[in-house]
Amino acid sequence: MVTLIEPHGGRLISRFVEGKEREEIVERMPSLRRLTMKDFEVSDLYMIACGGFSPLEGFMTREDYHSVMDNMRLRNGLVWTIPVTLSVTEEEARHIKPGDEVALTDRNGDYLGIIHVEDIYPNDREKEASEVYGTQDKCHPGVLRLYEKGDLNIGGKVSVVNRPKHETFLKYRLDPADTRRIFKERGWKRVVGFQTRNPIHRAHEYIQKCALEMVDGLFIHPLVGETKKDDIPAEIRMRCYEVLIENYYPKDRVLLGVFPAAMRYAGPKEAVFHAIVRKNYGCTHFIVGRDHAGVGNYYGSFDAHYIFDEFDPEEIGITPMFFDYTFYCRKCDGMASYRTCPHDSTYHISLSGTKVREMLREGKTPPPEFTRPEVAKILVEALSRMQTT
Ligand code: ADX
Repeated sequence: MVTLIEPHGGRLISRFVEGKEREEIVERMPSLRRLTMKDFEVSDLYMIACGGFSPLEGFMTREDYHSVMDNMRLRNGLVWTIPVTLSVTEEEARHIKPGDEVALTDRNGDYLGIIHVEDIYPNDREKEASEVYGTQDKCHPGVLRLYEKGDLNIGGKVSVVNRPKHETFLKYRLDPADTRRIFKERGWKRVVGFQTRNPIHRAHEYIQKCALEMVDGLFIHPLVGETKKDDIPAEIRMRCYEVLIENYYPKDRVLLGVFPAAMRYAGPKEAVFHAIVRKNYGCTHFIVGRDHAGVGNYYGSFDAHYIFDEFDPEEIGITPMFFDYTFYCRKCDGMASYRTCPHDSTYHISLSGTKVREMLREGKTPPPEFTRPEVAKILVEALSRMQTT
Protein backbone atom coordinates (compact mmCIF):
# COMPACT_ATOMS: atom_id res chain seq x y z
CA MET A 1 0.00 0.00 0.00
CA VAL A 2 1.49 3.33 -1.10
CA THR A 3 1.21 6.24 1.32
CA LEU A 4 1.76 9.51 -0.47
CA ILE A 5 3.74 12.41 0.88
CA GLU A 6 1.60 15.08 2.57
CA PRO A 7 0.96 18.29 0.68
CA HIS A 8 2.60 21.43 2.08
CA GLY A 9 0.62 22.39 5.16
CA GLY A 10 -1.05 18.95 5.33
CA ARG A 11 -4.03 19.46 3.02
CA LEU A 12 -4.33 19.61 -0.76
CA ILE A 13 -6.23 22.81 -1.46
CA SER A 14 -8.89 23.05 -4.14
CA ARG A 15 -10.37 26.41 -4.93
CA PHE A 16 -12.36 25.18 -7.90
CA VAL A 17 -16.02 25.54 -7.03
CA GLU A 18 -18.60 23.12 -8.33
CA GLY A 19 -22.36 22.52 -8.32
CA LYS A 20 -24.69 25.03 -6.73
CA GLU A 21 -21.92 27.25 -5.38
CA ARG A 22 -20.49 27.52 -8.88
CA GLU A 23 -23.89 28.34 -10.37
CA GLU A 24 -24.41 31.10 -7.83
CA ILE A 25 -21.03 32.66 -8.51
CA VAL A 26 -21.47 32.40 -12.28
CA GLU A 27 -24.78 34.22 -11.93
CA ARG A 28 -23.31 36.89 -9.67
CA MET A 29 -20.12 37.54 -11.63
CA PRO A 30 -21.47 39.87 -14.34
CA SER A 31 -22.77 42.27 -11.70
CA LEU A 32 -19.39 42.48 -9.95
CA ARG A 33 -16.52 44.83 -10.67
CA ARG A 34 -14.18 43.17 -13.16
CA LEU A 35 -10.46 42.83 -13.09
CA THR A 36 -8.47 41.69 -16.14
CA MET A 37 -5.54 39.56 -15.03
CA LYS A 38 -2.15 39.36 -16.67
CA ASP A 39 -1.26 35.99 -18.18
CA PHE A 40 1.15 35.05 -15.39
CA GLU A 41 -1.47 35.98 -12.79
CA VAL A 42 -3.92 33.69 -14.56
CA SER A 43 -1.42 30.85 -14.26
CA ASP A 44 -0.97 31.64 -10.56
CA LEU A 45 -4.75 31.62 -10.12
CA TYR A 46 -4.89 28.20 -11.68
CA MET A 47 -1.97 26.94 -9.57
CA ILE A 48 -3.79 28.09 -6.42
CA ALA A 49 -7.09 26.55 -7.52
CA CYS A 50 -5.66 23.14 -8.38
CA GLY A 51 -3.70 22.87 -5.13
CA GLY A 52 -0.27 23.15 -6.72
CA PHE A 53 0.35 26.13 -4.45
CA SER A 54 -1.12 24.50 -1.30
CA PRO A 55 -1.52 25.86 1.37
CA LEU A 56 -2.31 29.10 -0.51
CA GLU A 57 -6.04 29.61 -0.97
CA GLY A 58 -5.75 32.93 -2.70
CA PHE A 59 -3.43 35.80 -3.54
CA MET A 60 -1.25 36.91 -0.66
CA THR A 61 -2.40 39.49 1.82
CA ARG A 62 0.01 42.17 3.03
CA GLU A 63 1.16 40.15 6.04
CA ASP A 64 1.94 37.02 4.05
CA TYR A 65 3.62 39.07 1.33
CA HIS A 66 6.02 40.73 3.76
CA SER A 67 6.51 37.61 5.84
CA VAL A 68 7.60 35.71 2.70
CA MET A 69 10.06 38.45 1.78
CA ASP A 70 11.37 38.94 5.33
CA ASN A 71 11.47 35.36 6.62
CA MET A 72 10.90 33.01 3.66
CA ARG A 73 7.77 31.88 5.49
CA LEU A 74 4.07 32.52 5.42
CA ARG A 75 2.57 34.27 8.42
CA ASN A 76 1.66 30.84 9.86
CA GLY A 77 5.35 29.81 9.83
CA LEU A 78 5.24 27.48 6.81
CA VAL A 79 8.22 27.78 4.48
CA TRP A 80 7.36 29.77 1.34
CA THR A 81 9.90 31.74 -0.68
CA ILE A 82 8.07 33.40 -3.58
CA PRO A 83 5.34 36.07 -3.34
CA VAL A 84 2.13 35.17 -5.16
CA THR A 85 0.31 38.44 -5.63
CA LEU A 86 -2.41 40.02 -7.73
CA SER A 87 -1.63 43.56 -8.73
CA VAL A 88 -3.95 46.42 -9.61
CA THR A 89 -3.42 50.01 -10.66
CA GLU A 90 -4.43 52.85 -8.34
CA GLU A 91 -7.27 53.59 -10.73
CA GLU A 92 -8.58 50.02 -10.54
CA ALA A 93 -8.16 49.95 -6.75
CA ARG A 94 -10.17 53.14 -6.29
CA HIS A 95 -13.36 51.15 -6.75
CA ILE A 96 -12.37 48.12 -4.67
CA LYS A 97 -12.43 47.75 -0.89
CA PRO A 98 -11.91 44.93 1.62
CA GLY A 99 -15.00 42.76 1.83
CA ASP A 100 -15.80 43.15 -1.88
CA GLU A 101 -15.96 40.36 -4.37
CA VAL A 102 -14.23 41.10 -7.67
CA ALA A 103 -14.72 39.06 -10.83
CA LEU A 104 -11.47 37.89 -12.42
CA THR A 105 -11.15 37.57 -16.18
CA ASP A 106 -8.34 36.68 -18.54
CA ARG A 107 -7.22 39.11 -21.22
CA ASN A 108 -9.97 37.91 -23.58
CA GLY A 109 -12.56 38.93 -21.03
CA ASP A 110 -13.51 35.34 -20.16
CA TYR A 111 -14.60 34.93 -16.56
CA LEU A 112 -12.39 32.70 -14.43
CA GLY A 113 -13.64 33.26 -10.91
CA ILE A 114 -13.74 35.76 -8.09
CA ILE A 115 -11.45 37.10 -5.39
CA HIS A 116 -12.89 37.77 -1.94
CA VAL A 117 -10.92 40.93 -1.19
CA GLU A 118 -9.26 40.93 2.24
CA ASP A 119 -6.87 43.81 1.82
CA ILE A 120 -5.30 46.23 -0.66
CA TYR A 121 -1.71 47.25 -0.09
CA PRO A 122 1.32 48.74 -1.83
CA ASN A 123 3.29 46.53 -4.14
CA ASP A 124 6.80 46.93 -2.69
CA ARG A 125 8.71 46.33 -5.89
CA GLU A 126 12.09 47.42 -4.61
CA LYS A 127 11.95 45.16 -1.60
CA GLU A 128 10.63 42.27 -3.66
CA ALA A 129 13.39 42.74 -6.25
CA SER A 130 16.11 42.74 -3.57
CA GLU A 131 14.71 40.04 -1.29
CA VAL A 132 13.39 37.59 -3.85
CA TYR A 133 15.54 38.18 -6.93
CA GLY A 134 18.62 39.54 -5.17
CA THR A 135 18.91 42.43 -7.63
CA GLN A 136 17.25 45.68 -8.64
CA ASP A 137 18.45 45.26 -12.21
CA LYS A 138 15.57 45.54 -14.66
CA CYS A 139 17.49 43.43 -17.15
CA HIS A 140 16.58 40.51 -14.85
CA PRO A 141 13.39 39.08 -16.41
CA GLY A 142 11.72 38.51 -13.03
CA VAL A 143 12.48 42.04 -11.87
CA LEU A 144 11.32 43.45 -15.19
CA ARG A 145 7.99 41.68 -14.77
CA LEU A 146 7.67 43.13 -11.26
CA TYR A 147 7.90 46.60 -12.70
CA GLU A 148 5.16 45.81 -15.22
CA LYS A 149 2.75 45.15 -12.35
CA GLY A 150 0.37 47.68 -10.84
CA ASP A 151 1.24 49.82 -7.82
CA LEU A 152 -1.03 47.93 -5.44
CA ASN A 153 -1.82 44.31 -4.65
CA ILE A 154 -5.13 42.85 -3.61
CA GLY A 155 -5.05 39.91 -1.26
CA GLY A 156 -7.76 37.37 -0.57
CA LYS A 157 -9.07 33.88 -1.18
CA VAL A 158 -10.23 32.97 -4.66
CA SER A 159 -13.07 30.84 -5.97
CA VAL A 160 -12.49 29.58 -9.49
CA VAL A 161 -15.41 28.62 -11.70
CA ASN A 162 -13.73 28.13 -15.07
CA ARG A 163 -10.34 26.71 -15.93
CA PRO A 164 -8.25 28.81 -18.29
CA LYS A 165 -8.97 27.60 -21.84
CA HIS A 166 -6.18 25.39 -23.09
CA GLU A 167 -5.72 24.06 -26.58
CA THR A 168 -2.31 22.52 -26.07
CA PHE A 169 -0.79 19.63 -24.11
CA LEU A 170 -4.24 18.46 -23.02
CA LYS A 171 -3.16 14.93 -22.10
CA TYR A 172 -0.28 16.30 -20.06
CA ARG A 173 -2.37 18.73 -18.01
CA LEU A 174 -2.35 16.81 -14.77
CA ASP A 175 -3.44 18.45 -11.52
CA PRO A 176 -1.81 17.45 -8.23
CA ALA A 177 -4.80 15.21 -7.49
CA ASP A 178 -4.22 13.44 -10.84
CA THR A 179 -0.49 12.88 -10.37
CA ARG A 180 -1.05 11.68 -6.81
CA ARG A 181 -3.58 9.14 -8.10
CA ILE A 182 -1.24 8.01 -10.89
CA PHE A 183 1.73 7.60 -8.51
CA LYS A 184 -0.46 5.51 -6.24
CA GLU A 185 -1.79 3.38 -9.10
CA ARG A 186 1.74 2.75 -10.30
CA GLY A 187 2.85 1.82 -6.79
CA TRP A 188 5.55 4.51 -6.75
CA LYS A 189 6.54 5.16 -3.15
CA ARG A 190 9.40 7.46 -4.00
CA VAL A 191 9.07 9.83 -6.92
CA VAL A 192 11.60 12.37 -8.08
CA GLY A 193 10.33 15.56 -9.70
CA PHE A 194 12.25 17.37 -12.43
CA GLN A 195 11.67 21.02 -13.22
CA THR A 196 12.84 22.34 -16.56
CA ARG A 197 12.32 25.21 -18.95
CA ASN A 198 14.74 23.87 -21.55
CA PRO A 199 14.83 20.94 -23.94
CA ILE A 200 16.32 17.93 -22.16
CA HIS A 201 19.96 17.70 -23.13
CA ARG A 202 22.29 14.89 -22.11
CA ALA A 203 23.21 16.62 -18.84
CA HIS A 204 19.55 16.76 -17.82
CA GLU A 205 19.02 13.16 -18.90
CA TYR A 206 22.04 12.06 -16.90
CA ILE A 207 20.91 13.66 -13.64
CA GLN A 208 17.37 12.38 -14.11
CA LYS A 209 18.63 8.85 -14.63
CA CYS A 210 21.07 9.04 -11.72
CA ALA A 211 18.10 10.07 -9.56
CA LEU A 212 15.90 7.35 -11.04
CA GLU A 213 18.48 4.76 -9.95
CA MET A 214 17.46 5.59 -6.40
CA VAL A 215 13.68 6.06 -6.56
CA ASP A 216 10.65 4.32 -8.07
CA GLY A 217 9.52 6.92 -10.58
CA LEU A 218 10.54 10.06 -12.42
CA PHE A 219 8.07 12.88 -12.91
CA ILE A 220 9.28 15.13 -15.75
CA HIS A 221 7.46 18.38 -15.12
CA PRO A 222 8.44 21.03 -17.66
CA LEU A 223 7.24 24.52 -17.01
CA VAL A 224 4.91 25.73 -19.76
CA GLY A 225 3.76 29.01 -18.20
CA GLU A 226 5.25 32.33 -19.22
CA THR A 227 9.00 32.30 -19.88
CA LYS A 228 11.36 34.93 -21.24
CA LYS A 229 11.25 35.53 -24.97
CA ASP A 230 14.47 33.77 -25.92
CA ASP A 231 13.65 30.52 -24.08
CA ILE A 232 12.62 27.74 -26.45
CA PRO A 233 8.81 27.69 -26.82
CA ALA A 234 7.00 25.01 -24.85
CA GLU A 235 5.44 23.38 -27.96
CA ILE A 236 8.90 22.61 -29.31
CA ARG A 237 10.23 21.48 -25.95
CA MET A 238 7.29 19.12 -25.46
CA ARG A 239 8.05 17.38 -28.76
CA CYS A 240 11.63 16.94 -27.57
CA TYR A 241 10.50 15.39 -24.27
CA GLU A 242 8.18 13.01 -26.10
CA VAL A 243 10.82 11.80 -28.52
CA LEU A 244 13.35 11.43 -25.73
CA ILE A 245 11.01 9.38 -23.56
CA GLU A 246 10.01 7.29 -26.57
CA ASN A 247 13.61 6.40 -27.38
CA TYR A 248 15.60 6.50 -24.17
CA TYR A 249 13.41 6.13 -21.06
CA PRO A 250 11.67 3.21 -19.37
CA LYS A 251 8.08 4.27 -19.98
CA ASP A 252 6.67 2.50 -16.94
CA ARG A 253 8.97 4.47 -14.66
CA VAL A 254 8.42 7.94 -16.12
CA LEU A 255 5.50 10.34 -16.14
CA LEU A 256 5.42 13.51 -18.23
CA GLY A 257 3.13 16.34 -17.16
CA VAL A 258 3.16 20.07 -17.75
CA PHE A 259 3.73 22.61 -15.00
CA PRO A 260 1.50 25.57 -15.87
CA ALA A 261 3.19 28.14 -13.62
CA ALA A 262 5.16 31.12 -14.89
CA MET A 263 8.95 31.14 -14.61
CA ARG A 264 10.33 33.67 -12.11
CA TYR A 265 14.08 33.20 -12.67
CA ALA A 266 14.55 33.74 -8.92
CA GLY A 267 17.33 31.14 -8.62
CA PRO A 268 17.65 29.82 -5.04
CA LYS A 269 14.31 31.17 -3.81
CA GLU A 270 12.58 29.61 -6.78
CA ALA A 271 14.36 26.30 -6.21
CA VAL A 272 12.75 25.97 -2.77
CA PHE A 273 9.43 27.04 -4.21
CA HIS A 274 9.74 24.55 -7.09
CA ALA A 275 10.50 21.77 -4.62
CA ILE A 276 7.57 22.54 -2.32
CA VAL A 277 5.17 22.80 -5.24
CA ARG A 278 6.34 19.41 -6.57
CA LYS A 279 5.67 17.97 -3.11
CA ASN A 280 2.08 19.07 -3.64
CA TYR A 281 2.08 17.02 -6.85
CA GLY A 282 3.13 14.00 -4.76
CA CYS A 283 6.90 13.93 -5.35
CA THR A 284 9.11 12.80 -2.48
CA HIS A 285 12.36 13.97 -4.09
CA PHE A 286 13.31 16.91 -6.28
CA ILE A 287 16.32 17.47 -8.53
CA VAL A 288 18.31 20.65 -8.01
CA GLY A 289 21.29 20.91 -10.32
CA ARG A 290 23.54 23.68 -11.40
CA ASP A 291 22.12 27.21 -11.37
CA HIS A 292 18.56 25.99 -10.87
CA ALA A 293 16.05 28.61 -12.09
CA GLY A 294 18.92 30.99 -12.68
CA VAL A 295 19.42 33.50 -15.43
CA GLY A 296 22.54 35.36 -16.57
CA ASN A 297 25.07 35.67 -13.78
CA TYR A 298 22.74 36.79 -11.03
CA TYR A 299 23.26 33.71 -8.84
CA GLY A 300 26.15 31.50 -7.89
CA SER A 301 26.04 28.11 -9.64
CA PHE A 302 25.12 26.33 -6.40
CA ASP A 303 23.23 29.01 -4.43
CA ALA A 304 20.13 26.93 -5.10
CA HIS A 305 21.75 24.08 -3.12
CA TYR A 306 22.95 26.20 -0.19
CA ILE A 307 19.56 27.79 0.47
CA PHE A 308 18.16 24.42 1.58
CA ASP A 309 20.61 24.51 4.53
CA GLU A 310 18.64 27.41 5.93
CA PHE A 311 15.70 25.13 6.70
CA ASP A 312 15.03 22.09 8.78
CA PRO A 313 14.55 19.29 6.17
CA GLU A 314 11.29 18.32 7.90
CA GLU A 315 9.71 21.68 7.21
CA ILE A 316 10.47 21.43 3.51
CA GLY A 317 9.27 17.82 3.51
CA ILE A 318 10.45 16.91 0.01
CA THR A 319 14.07 15.73 -0.27
CA PRO A 320 16.29 17.72 -2.62
CA MET A 321 18.71 15.68 -4.74
CA PHE A 322 21.63 17.93 -5.51
CA PHE A 323 23.73 17.55 -8.64
CA ASP A 324 27.05 19.10 -9.49
CA TYR A 325 27.84 20.47 -12.95
CA THR A 326 27.46 17.56 -15.41
CA PHE A 327 28.87 17.13 -18.91
CA TYR A 328 30.12 14.53 -21.37
CA CYS A 329 33.79 13.65 -20.81
CA ARG A 330 35.68 12.27 -23.81
CA LYS A 331 38.27 10.63 -21.59
CA CYS A 332 35.70 8.99 -19.30
CA ASP A 333 33.77 8.19 -22.48
CA GLY A 334 30.49 9.04 -20.84
CA MET A 335 28.50 11.52 -18.83
CA ALA A 336 30.10 12.69 -15.60
CA SER A 337 30.30 15.62 -13.23
CA TYR A 338 33.03 17.50 -11.41
CA ARG A 339 32.33 15.14 -8.54
CA THR A 340 33.05 12.01 -10.52
CA CYS A 341 35.42 13.00 -13.32
CA PRO A 342 39.16 13.57 -12.71
CA HIS A 343 39.94 14.94 -16.20
CA ASP A 344 40.48 18.53 -17.10
CA SER A 345 37.90 20.57 -18.93
CA THR A 346 39.53 20.20 -22.37
CA TYR A 347 37.94 16.72 -22.39
CA HIS A 348 34.51 18.02 -21.45
CA ILE A 349 31.73 18.74 -23.90
CA SER A 350 29.31 21.22 -22.45
CA LEU A 351 27.53 24.10 -24.12
CA SER A 352 25.78 27.05 -22.58
CA GLY A 353 22.11 27.63 -23.37
CA THR A 354 23.09 30.74 -25.30
CA LYS A 355 25.63 28.83 -27.36
CA VAL A 356 23.07 26.12 -28.20
CA ARG A 357 20.48 28.67 -29.26
CA GLU A 358 23.10 30.35 -31.42
CA MET A 359 23.99 27.03 -33.09
CA LEU A 360 20.36 26.16 -33.66
CA ARG A 361 19.60 29.54 -35.16
CA GLU A 362 22.45 28.98 -37.61
CA GLY A 363 20.98 25.57 -38.47
CA LYS A 364 23.90 23.73 -36.86
CA THR A 365 23.25 20.48 -35.01
CA PRO A 366 24.61 20.26 -31.45
CA PRO A 367 26.95 17.25 -31.03
CA PRO A 368 25.42 13.89 -29.93
CA GLU A 369 27.45 14.05 -26.73
CA PHE A 370 25.47 17.14 -25.86
CA THR A 371 22.01 16.42 -27.29
CA ARG A 372 20.40 13.20 -28.48
CA PRO A 373 20.12 13.26 -32.31
CA GLU A 374 16.31 12.88 -32.17
CA VAL A 375 16.07 15.98 -29.98
CA ALA A 376 18.60 17.92 -32.06
CA LYS A 377 16.59 17.19 -35.21
CA ILE A 378 13.41 18.66 -33.72
CA LEU A 379 15.24 21.71 -32.46
CA VAL A 380 17.08 22.45 -35.69
CA GLU A 381 13.92 22.06 -37.79
CA ALA A 382 11.74 24.08 -35.46
CA LEU A 383 14.21 26.89 -34.94
CA SER A 384 15.05 27.25 -38.62
CA ARG A 385 11.31 27.39 -39.36
CA MET A 386 10.92 30.08 -36.71
CA GLN A 387 13.70 32.04 -38.37
CA THR A 388 11.92 32.06 -41.69
CA THR A 389 8.49 33.04 -40.35
S1 ADX B 1 15.54 25.72 -14.85
O1 ADX B 1 15.57 27.17 -14.97
O2 ADX B 1 14.24 25.16 -15.07
O3 ADX B 1 16.19 25.28 -13.62
P1 ADX B 1 16.93 24.02 -16.81
O4 ADX B 1 15.79 23.53 -17.60
O5 ADX B 1 18.13 24.40 -17.56
O6 ADX B 1 16.50 25.34 -16.06
O7 ADX B 1 17.38 23.00 -15.71
C1 ADX B 1 16.58 21.99 -15.20
C2 ADX B 1 17.33 21.33 -14.04
O8 ADX B 1 18.55 20.74 -14.51
C3 ADX B 1 17.74 22.28 -12.92
O9 ADX B 1 17.67 21.62 -11.68
C4 ADX B 1 19.18 22.61 -13.27
O10 ADX B 1 19.88 22.99 -12.12
C5 ADX B 1 19.66 21.29 -13.82
N1 ADX B 1 20.78 21.40 -14.78
C6 ADX B 1 20.75 21.94 -16.02
N2 ADX B 1 21.93 21.81 -16.67
C7 ADX B 1 22.76 21.18 -15.80
C8 ADX B 1 24.13 20.73 -15.85
N3 ADX B 1 24.88 20.91 -16.92
N4 ADX B 1 24.64 20.13 -14.75
C9 ADX B 1 23.87 19.93 -13.66
N5 ADX B 1 22.58 20.31 -13.54
C10 ADX B 1 22.02 20.92 -14.59
